[in-house]
Amino acid sequence: MRAIIIRRRFKLFKPMIICVCRRVSDKTIAQCARSGMAFDDIQLELGVATQCGQCEGCARDIVAECAPGQSVAHLQQHNAEPGRVSIAA
Ligand code: FES
Repeated sequence: MRAIIIRRRFKLFKPMIICVCRRVSDKTIAQCARSGMAFDDIQLELGVATQCGQCEGCARDIVAECAPGQSVAHLQQHNAEPGRVSIAA
């Protein structure tokens, strides 16, 4: 799950389908969450986790991570080792 969040946060990859049944991506869920929608609202609007339910945990994690007011991680450059980058929360 953490890998998904890091991928999404730093836009390292293309959007990934989280809900296969309804074909909803992590990007779409994150956009809804950032706009202030709760998981129940997103579920109603997009149909996430309304069929097999396998995506519910992942979708809830994305909503929790993207909800307004969440702290944002940032990249730090280590001067001792040029080119080395780490993620700080
Ligand atoms: S994968 Fe989301 S409801 Fe089946």
